[in-house]
Amino acid sequence: MRPDEREFLARFIREHSGIVIGADKDYLLESRLLPVARKAGLAGLSVLIQRLRHQPTATFIQEVIEAMTTNETLFFRDGHPFAALGEELLPKLAAIRPGGTPLQIWCAASSTGQEPYSIALAARDQVPRIVQSHGLRIVATDIDRTVLAKAKAALYSDLEVNRGLPPALLTRWFRREGSEWRLHEEIRGMVEFRHLNLLGPWGMAGGIDVVFIRNVLIYFDNPTKQAIIAKIAGLVAADGYLVLGGSESPPGLGDRFERVGTRPGVYRKKA
Ligand SMILES: C[S@@+](CC[C@H](N)C(=O)[O-])C[C@H]1O[C@@H](n2cnc3c(N)ncnc32)[C@H](O)[C@@H]1O
Repeated sequence: MRPDEREFLARFIREHSGIVIGADKDYLLESRLLPVARKAGLAGLSVLIQRLRHQPTATFIQEVIEAMTTNETLFFRDGHPFAALGEELLPKLAAIRPGGTPLQIWCAASSTGQEPYSIALAARDQVPRIVQSHGLRIVATDIDRTVLAKAKAALYSDLEVNRGLPPALLTRWFRREGSEWRLHEEIRGMVEFRHLNLLGPWGMAGGIDVVFIRNVLIYFDNPTKQAIIAKIAGLVAADGYLVLGGSESPPGLGDRFERVGTRPGVYRKKA
């Protein structure tokens, strides 16, 4: 790939999604974008770049950006955020919010749904009385419409349900459908999926009790991470929480959030 082509692609992807592609990542661009070129009947990356420069339809841009997202996820990833939710966050929030006021959770970058459904399953399993007394409103968002469609369908393979999902929850809340597993309507109904680019306008109302934003800021540069953390701080309720990936420490985090006990990745909004 010519240096000017690499630069164009990296800039295009960063401007549309925030995802930073390092200068040594030609193989990544090629492995992700050659299939997009092939599907569009284009001879290679140079022609794909020409199309992006001169005739970029919204659908084509979407295909390019979706090809560059990494959607790796699993049920109950890292365990402790979901334990924290049931043992500490939801009980504390329920104690200070009047009954009948739904607790609001935003799962940003929800990929194929395992994370928001783990939130719903943890709540339903560990604190069913809070779910009943207050109600839980989980909004799950992602830039990638293909993963959102899979998330909404809530249909998972053997491999997927064998990654992180406790067997008791599989038995209780999933049923066989052909060679796959469909999540029970009650849990699906607890999550609303929406398309949202973390780089664009969010259209989210304030007063959110818990924001999960895990394993996505790692793809962005520092100013973008800092701006997103500041924007989230503006939306989180005064006594609300932020949950990051265990080893994530975006710039500006400590100005607005403080760690909750010894739980990696779990933060409370500063007074
Ligand atoms: C590695 S997955 C993490 C999924 C889940 N949060 C977890 O920790 O298991 C990263 C997700 O971030 C999404 N993503 C990347 N850039 C984004 C952006 N600008 N806005 C919203 N979502 C984005 C990708 O589509 C992908 O589904």
